[in-house]
Amino acid sequence: MTAPVVTIDGPSGSGKGTTARLTAAMLGFHLLDSGAIYRILGLAALDRGVDLQDAHALCALAAGLELAFPYDQHTTQIELDGRNIAGSLRNQDVADAASQVAVHPEVREALMSLQRSQVKAPGLVGDGRDLGTVVFPDATLKIFLDASAAVRADRRYLELIESGQTVERSAILRDLEIRDIRDRTRTVAPLVAADDAYVIDSSEKTPADVLAVVRDLCRAKGLMQ
Ligand code: DC
Repeated sequence: MTAPVVTIDGPSGSGKGTTARLTAAMLGFHLLDSGAIYRILGLAALDRGVDLQDAHALCALAAGLELAFPYDQHTTQIELDGRNIAGSLRNQDVADAASQVAVHPEVREALMSLQRSQVKAPGLVGDGRDLGTVVFPDATLKIFLDASAAVRADRRYLELIESGQTVERSAILRDLEIRDIRDRTRTVAPLVAADDAYVIDSSEKTPADVLAVVRDLCRAKGLMQ
């Protein structure tokens, strides 16, 4: 591996996105939001009426997409067909489509090199489901963030309300549990902590608390002083 990689995997709402962003800023590393890649493909499939069960058609869609992936901590623009889709990526229907396209092994394989190509000096922090287990098995530091379903649903609810969406908390919890089951039980690259991952339960922790744990781990791995 050319540059150090820190992976932060975990279920939706565990705080991995926030932790990844803060960790990347702390280390001065690049940031990879791998969920956004699956969301972009899910959104494109919904837009173009591609069947979410049709792995072959989804791979063709992925290959044809301009997925020059600019999703860095400095970027709020993600364009699909000339339209800024950064806002739509967080929608529930897109999250659900992302989880469905992510089930197909062929689709995951098609998106692998795009994710690996994001490793650049001085280093990369990536968050997702299988970064420590499949995409970057040799990562310098692997973290698995978890939290109770109720806490994760509350976080997602607040995030969506703050972004101006009208949502029901009970619907969020139900969607989250459906997605959890799909992500954890799929046959390829299921959501699971790598054997050598440090597991952090963020249910009772603030982002600053989690970052403090991550900071100690980064120091122990020689990633910072
Ligand atoms: O992290 P997120 O909520 O943005 O991810 C959206 C979906 O994408 C998630 O339900 C499962 C899928 N995903 C995946 O299978 N592997 C990843 N590394 C990241 C996301």
